Amino acid sequence: MASSSSFRMTFSVVFLIIIGMASAELSSSYYNTSCPNALSTIKSAVNSAVAKESRMGASLLRLHFHDCFVNGCDASILLDDTSTFTGEKTANPNNNSARGFDVVDTIKSDVESICPGVVSCADILAVAARDSVVALGGPSWTVLLGRRDATTASLSAANSDIPSPSLNLSGLISAFSKKGLSTKEMVTLAGAHTIGQARCTNFRSRIYNETNIDTSYATSLKSNCPRNGSDNNLSPLDTTSSTSFDYAYYKNLVNKKGLLHSDQQLYNGGSTDSQVSGYSSSSSTFLSDFKSAIVKMGNISVLTGTSGEIRTNCRKINS
Ligand code: HEM
Ligand SMILES: *[C@@H]1O[C@H](CO)[C@@H](O)[C@H](O)[C@H]1NC(C)=O
Ligand SMILES: *[C@@H]1O[C@H](CO)[C@@H](O)[C@H](O)[C@H]1NC(C)=O
Ligand SMILES: *[C@@H]1O[C@H](CO)[C@@H](O)[C@H](O)[C@H]1NC(C)=O
Ligand SMILES: *[C@@H]1O[C@H](CO)[C@@H](O)[C@H](O)[C@H]1NC(C)=O
Ligand SMILES: *[C@@H]1O[C@H](CO)[C@@H](O)[C@H](O)[C@H]1NC(C)=O
Ligand SMILES: *[C@@H]1O[C@H](CO)[C@@H](O)[C@H](O)[C@H]1NC(C)=O
Repeated sequence: MASSSSFRMTFSVVFLIIIGMASAELSSSYYNTSCPNALSTIKSAVNSAVAKESRMGASLLRLHFHDCFVNGCDASILLDDTSTFTGEKTANPNNNSARGFDVVDTIKSDVESICPGVVSCADILAVAARDSVVALGGPSWTVLLGRRDATTASLSAANSDIPSPSLNLSGLISAFSKKGLSTKEMVTLAGAHTIGQARCTNFRSRIYNETNIDTSYATSLKSNCPRNGSDNNLSPLDTTSSTSFDYAYYKNLVNKKGLLHSDQQLYNGGSTDSQVSGYSSSSSTFLSDFKSAIVKMGNISVLTGTSGEIRTNCRKINS
């Protein structure tokens, strides 16, 4: 009797382990035994980077987005170009724009020193995005873990799948739908533009040519973004509080103070106006929706099990 019950017990444990390994599901406890200090190590490094430069929190959040929208959350955005390999860093949405790669290198070397070969670069991006939002006063959420790193990248997918700021509402809806995200989730995730900066080249036509913009807001942006030149001059995406992760982005939209064409598309007489006005008067609704939507974004086409690899250096495929 005793031996048959212990057999059943052993059998169930083995069965559960096999099921666990075969599963493509991410899990919040993925590193609990293999690297128990992984999350605290990442958080410390993010906190010091954001303390040094608050914009870095925005830049790290955006890296996770640009990673996930290009063939899934697989750290493909982190691969450097070489003479024989073209990555995603020079794609239009990333070139002279995506930043935070040195901070990711620091985080990776910190986690490699405690648990070599265990923590993926893709998971680092997902955790750093959450820690960045928290460091800038936003909500926290449980990050699901167990992503593995790609051995490929795609310049063409980066150019086609990361949404452009010139898109109209239907273009934005399609870009997110293509990634399994709803219109509602798109409007929620765009609230990430409550932090960070954009370059003049991405909002020039909006401030000189569009009519659904507050006149004094448009005027105030022109000195730093002339008609010709100064393409890389920066202005805050959230004109009121670009280093606080809050709901001011939606209040700006209701006041016609979206910086990008794409931002104002979310409140321009279309089907998403009601969601924007709802968020503009309810911080808690936005913050709680954001937590679910970003967990879903972080789950796009992840590599698990034996797919991909755990890169040693986030910039290079293991040799
Ligand atoms: C809805 C479609 C979206 C479009 C069209 C879009 C477009 C842009 C553009 C053009 C910039 C400025 C880049 C530059 O001028 O160098 C930007 C910045 C940023 N985006 Fe988005 N974005 C979108 C959605 C998102 C999402 C879903 C997230 C994250 C969840 C995000 C996070 C950010 C952040 C944090 C910045 C500031 C980065 C920094 O200061 O370094 N964006 N985005
Ligand atoms: C994993 O670790 C976290 C943080 O220490 C803890 O909250 C959680 O309960 C652990 N989960 C499991 C399944 O052990
Ligand atoms: C990326 O930016 C650099 C520096 O501005 C520029 O020389 C290069 O042509 C750009 N690359 C692409 C592919 O646009
Ligand atoms: C949105 O943009 C697409 C592609 O540029 C265009 O075909 C479509 O007519 C536009 N839709 C609206 C409602 O303006
Ligand atoms: C404004 O629109 C006109 C006409 O389409 C165009 O020629 C001009 O380049 C635009 N200006 C800016 C700053 O985008
Ligand atoms: C800006 O460029 C336009 C045409 O490209 C030109 O007509 C205008 O004189 C330029 N303005 C300045 C201030 O250089
Ligand atoms: C993540 O994706 C997997 C596979 O598509 C799915 O089974 C799971 O429910 C998703 N989890 C979340 C939190 O979205």
